[in-house]
Amino acid sequence: MRRPIAELWGTGSYTPKRVLTNDEFSKMLDTSDQWIRERTGIRERRVAGADESNACMAKAAAEQVLADTELTALDVQAVVVATCSPDRLLPSQACDLQAILGAKNAAAFDVGAACTGFLYALNVAEGLVAAEQAEHVLVVASEKLTSIMDWTDRTTAVLFGDGAGATIVRRGTTGRGILSSYMKSDGTLAELLYRPGGGAAHPPDEALLKDHSYYIKMAGREVFKAAVLSMADACDKALARAGLAAGDIDLLIPHQANIRIIEATAKHAGLPMDKVYVNVDRFGNTSAASVAIALDEAVRCGRVQPGMKLMFCAFGAGFTWASTVVQW
Ligand code: UT7
Repeated sequence: MRRPIAELWGTGSYTPKRVLTNDEFSKMLDTSDQWIRERTGIRERRVAGADESNACMAKAAAEQVLADTELTALDVQAVVVATCSPDRLLPSQACDLQAILGAKNAAAFDVGAACTGFLYALNVAEGLVAAEQAEHVLVVASEKLTSIMDWTDRTTAVLFGDGAGATIVRRGTTGRGILSSYMKSDGTLAELLYRPGGGAAHPPDEALLKDHSYYIKMAGREVFKAAVLSMADACDKALARAGLAAGDIDLLIPHQANIRIIEATAKHAGLPMDKVYVNVDRFGNTSAASVAIALDEAVRCGRVQPGMKLMFCAFGAGFTWASTVVQW
């Protein structure tokens, strides 16, 4: 087992106050609480209001991790934001966050890997620390997915929610930190989960608004199968790289897209569900933010204790998938 180069130091998160239940959805769409619960495990999700922009949620999560670590924004040399729902397309969400935090000594940029974004961002942060480009990297995963989903499409609308999570990545100090990581992609399958319009290839116009191609489109069943296979692959690879077996893992914190995907991932790894952190029932799929929010919750409720070995895994649009093993 290699000595960690970088560690995660402190956590923070923010989820909007507004709770939207499955029953409320069943009044808007041809769906039901029973269908949503049985197929996804989701009971409710959080929906950001007009005063809760991606930047606001990212700032709230960042301020929590800064308070946790007793750092100030001036102690941060890089702000890395994982998101696929930025407030605006230019400049990056990270630059907006850098500005409102007053992180005057920091570089700032976004990582675009959809639901895998937080794990990709941890890898980038580890690299910045290893190259001595930064002592403290603020990693924030923040999503306002409800602003880019089609509220008239029952096959996607019921799945997503909003929120943000954060951590600081710094040089490993006491043997704790990132033991291994694995990242992968397959862009040939991009069109199974994507936003067809609104970018440079199809700039916004009236037709685009009419046909809803500005919103997230997903071939759910195909994505489901790929997610199960890919998260299993990622866990196997990260464990092998760490020289560990699944039995060495104290807590699996998977991407929270669907309880059936989470259960299949745990089964593949041979981990009982009491070693798996689940909050998809309360937040739905918050894309990049999901593992970051779950980690913060797990730390704050005492499920994560010093010395534990954690495994994160995620899968998302791209396709992208990844896993990270961490000694807490
Ligand atoms: O975050 C990373 C990527 N995202 C994911 O990992 C999500 C992966 N996919 C999934 O979680 C699941 O595929 C879904 C939850 C999206 C769908 O569940 P499913 O068991 O794969 O259902 P399905 O797509 O095969 O649809 C079954 C039926 C269809 O009706 P017909 O054609 O059998 O008559 C759908 O039209 O369920 C229908 N359906 C719904 N019914 C009620 C689809 N959405 C809904 C809905 N309420 N909200």
